[in-house]
Amino acid sequence: MKIAIIGATGKSGQKILAEAIARGLDVTAIVRSPAKLTAKVPVIQREVLQITATDLAPFAVIISAFGNSDGHNRQEHVQVMQHYVEILKNMHKRLLTVGAASYLFTNDQKTKKFYDTPMMRLSGLRAGSLVLETAYTTLRDQAIGFNWTVVAPAVTYSFDRPATGHYHTGAEVIQKNAAGKSIVSYADFAAALLDEVQAPQYLNQLMSVSED
Ligand SMILES: NC(=O)c1ccc[n+]([C@@H]2O[C@H](COP(=O)([O-])OP(=O)(O)OC[C@H]3O[C@@H](n4cnc5c(N)ncnc54)[C@H](OP(=O)(O)O)[C@@H]3O)[C@@H](O)[C@H]2O)c1
Repeated sequence: MKIAIIGATGKSGQKILAEAIARGLDVTAIVRSPAKLTAKVPVIQREVLQITATDLAPFAVIISAFGNSDGHNRQEHVQVMQHYVEILKNMHKRLLTVGAASYLFTNDQKTKKFYDTPMMRLSGLRAGSLVLETAYTTLRDQAIGFNWTVVAPAVTYSFDRPATGHYHTGAEVIQKNAAGKSIVSYADFAAALLDEVQAPQYLNQLMSVSED
């Protein structure tokens, strides 16, 4: 199974790439800045919106770790998702993207979104979260002829936190650890995402991850 990782130079991308290599998977990096890559893997150099259907033709699975932390330009996430919908149409591949906890539900009844909590409203993060949600719903509502999974980290997504190797997943609802905190390291998140690649449980769904 040939796998491509878009954005393999970012914090999520580099952890997913390292985990894929550790698992012996056949992985290619699709990045705009190849000089930033430390792992020795095949590389395709592309701006994300320049990636074509021909570029993706060799791959069964495409992982997008694209990120844009500029809170004023969250719209780029929607453009990127629209681009994936276009180039993957009827290609019968699988796309997994790194999502966000902000548009997950906070309760099992799925009536309350995290972006509606006072904390998110007061922090001014709600508006950007709604745009990120639109990126997700663009994929959910417009994907034709390919499978997708949006994999959302826990509320606290920690790069420096060590891997625990113990994590659990859910659909659409924020997951928490035994202490009641929604937290996951980038390393555990990468492992959970690749578990989903190798043993799909969330085809065409929004999946969430937290450490145990
Ligand atoms: N708790 C949460 O839910 C939570 C928290 C944080 C982040 N996130 C989500 O996680 C995702 C990834 O975050 P991250 O922290 O891993 O991001 P990151 O470290 O900023 O990495 C972003 C990646 O995207 C690439 N990229 C950006 N613009 C590009 C373009 N125009 N063309 C090609 N590549 C481009 C970057 O390439 P360069 O290396 O060349 O810049 C980099 O590889 C985001 O979608 C974010 O919304 C969720």
